[in-house]
Amino acid sequence: MHYPYQITSYEQYQAEYKRSIDDPAEFWSSVAENFQWRKKWHTTLNWNFTDPKIEWFKGGKLNITENCLDRHLEKSGDMPALIWEPNDPEEHHRIITYRKLHEKVCQFSHVLKNNGVKKGDRVCIYMGMIPELAIAILACARVGAIHSVIFGGFSAQSIADRLYDAQAEFIVTCDGAYRGAKDIPLKSVIDDSLIGNRTVKKVIVATRTRTAVSMIKGRDVWWEDEIKKVETLGLHDFPAEEMDAEDPLFILYTSGSTGKPKGVVHTCGGYMVYTNYTFINVFQYQTGDIHFCTADIGWITGHSYIVYGPLSAGATSLMFEGVPTFPDAGRFWDIVDKFKVNILYTAPTAIRSLMGFGLGPLQGKNLSSLKVLGTVGEPINEEAWHWYDEHVGKHRCPIVDTWWQTETGDCLISNLAGITPAVPSWATLPMPGLQMVLVDENGKELVQEGEETISGNLCIKGPWPGILRTTYGDHERCRTNYFATYPGMYFTGDGALKDKNGFYRITGRVDDVLNVSGHRIGTAELENAINMHAGVVESAVVGYPHDVKGQGIYAYVIYQGSHGQDTHGTADLVRKDIIQTITRIIGAIAKPDKIQFVSGLPKTRSGKIMRRILRKIAEGDLDSVGDTSALLDPAVVDEIKNGKL
Ligand code: WT7
Repeated sequence: MHYPYQITSYEQYQAEYKRSIDDPAEFWSSVAENFQWRKKWHTTLNWNFTDPKIEWFKGGKLNITENCLDRHLEKSGDMPALIWEPNDPEEHHRIITYRKLHEKVCQFSHVLKNNGVKKGDRVCIYMGMIPELAIAILACARVGAIHSVIFGGFSAQSIADRLYDAQAEFIVTCDGAYRGAKDIPLKSVIDDSLIGNRTVKKVIVATRTRTAVSMIKGRDVWWEDEIKKVETLGLHDFPAEEMDAEDPLFILYTSGSTGKPKGVVHTCGGYMVYTNYTFINVFQYQTGDIHFCTADIGWITGHSYIVYGPLSAGATSLMFEGVPTFPDAGRFWDIVDKFKVNILYTAPTAIRSLMGFGLGPLQGKNLSSLKVLGTVGEPINEEAWHWYDEHVGKHRCPIVDTWWQTETGDCLISNLAGITPAVPSWATLPMPGLQMVLVDENGKELVQEGEETISGNLCIKGPWPGILRTTYGDHERCRTNYFATYPGMYFTGDGALKDKNGFYRITGRVDDVLNVSGHRIGTAELENAINMHAGVVESAVVGYPHDVKGQGIYAYVIYQGSHGQDTHGTADLVRKDIIQTITRIIGAIAKPDKIQFVSGLPKTRSGKIMRRILRKIAEGDLDSVGDTSALLDPAVVDEIKNGKL
């Protein structure tokens, strides 16, 4: 397939960028023409960042799955849509063509309908990385239901909170999931999350691990049984629900600087156009290429670059169930070799972790099929960038450093593979349509001049089609979180540099959000969880540089339980209790790396915790803690320094 909107030279990028800024509506309208709409939109763009209100392609009618499946059937029905590689390399992989995927999505759409799912209903999906996960997502989109995928590392409590927030009536899950040597009992976690739940009516359970599960009559049904009913009736097609461009497509929860995760809402039309546009341009996808994004579909990266981006482009998307180090640290390279992968998109944390195993795991692996490499999720350090370039790309493959967020839907800043320049650890240039600005704390726009490199808080001036529309059930929260800090602009929460070439380098979060292994964790959420432990009086969490994870989690805890830190030998046990509490409240992904017991926290006279001081200590920078005279109790700083882990 030819993509008329694929940028093929640096000059063309510059021209398209200019065109997109001069007239965003005209620009995105011309891209949107390339999709299958039931009815064309009447208004390309209507927006303000005050409410905020953002509408793209208003009046346009479509179903995203017709763009991801039906429209490819005639020409590429026999082309692989999904290649699935199981956790265990001994188990057989699966190849699902566009025709087969269309059929499976249609059948599961019938299953959803038979179980009462209607347009606009919220369906929570909690599954491992098996094709049925992609099928469930697409079937939701086909019937017009709003999917809310929850990553398998979240606890029952986290799921319960999300079910409540979204008032979800349906769940699709698995008995269990394989991840490396582990077997995660997903259905049992779901059962715990449903204790006291009043909204969920049906739970559809796909079989993967065949671990024993409880199946409650009237509520729980097996995926396979439900599919059989549909098959018996010979139902292979399902007419897709007609959606408005601005109807919600999905909710995805993400942490912020407050205690409660927020449900980021993306809509059908704009998300589809922008995901597809960035997929084709950033990775320079060519028909027939095999695209391997190593993310889990539980995160936005998987939504956009395993499911919707590649499938809307008629691409072949490789989905991997396992982890990079199982059965050994050569697994990614085995997969690249086995399927002749052309595009590999992964996270800096994975690269750093694999670097730690040396070059042995790469030996004997044929990586010559690779054409493009990508990274996402956190700043990539130069050492990791060069290792990736030398040992994986063999200096032949451009590396795209893609900066974006759950809220932005898809990439906003990235070089275009082989088209625009790559600079190690710089995300470089904004995508067409994106007007980035750096501002100081007062919101004053900083202007780059001459040779200088400027540094500020990264904001965006206008809307692009993939921007979030709201936070589910709480629009005011969306406004205060993203549009109120610097009025008239979307604030990313990241700091960045801009150099004389107009290139951006992301320096990291400037709010109280940590980025651990490319996953976002709000310190307030983590502190809430720690404070729920019976003996904890108060806590403060900060990040510190971590060789593999990028940021590690450092928790300072005031503990006064009967199993106190002063009782020799019990501190480690208390740490384990606290970690257990966090695992229950949030999930295993939020475990702190270090827990230091303290008798007090550095606070200003008005009671505000001085995180700057705690951060310095956690970083091991004990001498530059700075002036502590304004503190309520300056002595506590020395105590904390002395007890540093
Ligand atoms: C935060 C968003 C984008 C999908 C995965 C994470 C950080 C993301 C980069 C990059 C430096 C990056 C930012 C951003 N981030 N990509 N290429 N270079 N930092 O999505 O969980 O919504 O987190 O990840 O800090 O704000 P997310």
